[in-house]
Amino acid sequence: MDQAAGLKTLFAPGHEPGGAPPDAVAEVPAGRPAGGMARQQCRAIAVSGGKGGVGKSTVAVNLGMALSIAGNDVMLLDADMGLANVDVLLGLTATRHIGHLLDGSATLEELVLEAPHGLRVIPAGSGARRLAQLPNSEHAAIIRAFDGLARPPRYLLVDTAAGLSDNVSMFAAAADDVLLVVCDEPASLTDTYAVIKVLSRDFGVRRFRMVANMMQNEGSARQLHRKLSRVCDRFLEVVIDFSGWIPHDERLRQAIRRQSAVVDLWPSSRSALAFRQLAGAVDSWAQAGRAGTDRIAFFGDRALPASRMKT
Ligand SMILES: Nc1ncnc2c1ncn2[C@@H]1O[C@H](COP(=O)(O)OP(=O)(O)OP(=O)(O)O)[C@@H](O)[C@H]1O
Ligand SMILES: [Mg+2]
Repeated sequence: MDQAAGLKTLFAPGHEPGGAPPDAVAEVPAGRPAGGMARQQCRAIAVSGGKGGVGKSTVAVNLGMALSIAGNDVMLLDADMGLANVDVLLGLTATRHIGHLLDGSATLEELVLEAPHGLRVIPAGSGARRLAQLPNSEHAAIIRAFDGLARPPRYLLVDTAAGLSDNVSMFAAAADDVLLVVCDEPASLTDTYAVIKVLSRDFGVRRFRMVANMMQNEGSARQLHRKLSRVCDRFLEVVIDFSGWIPHDERLRQAIRRQSAVVDLWPSSRSALAFRQLAGAVDSWAQAGRAGTDRIAFFGDRALPASRMKT
């Protein structure tokens, strides 16, 4: 089943009590639509991984800021609805969040918090049970709101929640790339495998990127990648690219305690260097996304068909 078909199934009436078919997606105020030529350049990257505590938010925040420092316009969406922590990691104070977008009291642009180096953060809102249990029509409405951004970013990083809820799969499937954060623990590997299985089987995602986190050295990071690839090769038709590794670094923990990105606070630390390398890898990824014309996708109305984009 391809991705569009997967989303159609997901949206089929009766799939979920209270769910809605695609043409009944909730409307939210998005802002002024931008030109198609500008949005071809937008690339949405979901940071995912299944297991809790493997470093998804840490990677999303530091990769986002490393890309900003390198001169890119970057937006970071906290999609861990109901348990927001990107704003906390960066010491930002959110007065409005995704809940305000959904109830129509704010546009996406009005939610934006400015982090250092021009990184734009969209906070998720914390402690609201409603946000943690959104129906798919509202996930789709959030995704579609990005089409209306007056100033679409070069990169949109999406920090997803742990687990395998519709929340996670919707945001990951709508992105151009899925970056899996994996650490060297059996539960991280099995949970990552479960995410890959669901996204490939139900959404037609065939290519994944992997970053190994909290590693001792490159050798063990590559070994972890081989382990995951071997299992996926046997049972699933997917490609897992090795995109880099982040060392276990006490400096990173100290930066978190200071509510700062390590790439900003200690740019010459081992982990900051690794995040800059990862940003370089992201920058080198092919320009073409997995864009189809009939799927729910971030920046879904890109002007050129995928076949005409550079690969
Ligand atoms: N490379 C690293 N070196 C040292 N500590 C790290 C590293 N990466 C993450 N951590 C630690 O792991 C903790 C959990 O990280 P983080 O909150 O980013 O995980 P997560 O996958 O987003 O968790 P959740 O699933 O709960 O959202 C951090 O508070 C940090 O202390
Ligand atoms: Mg997190």
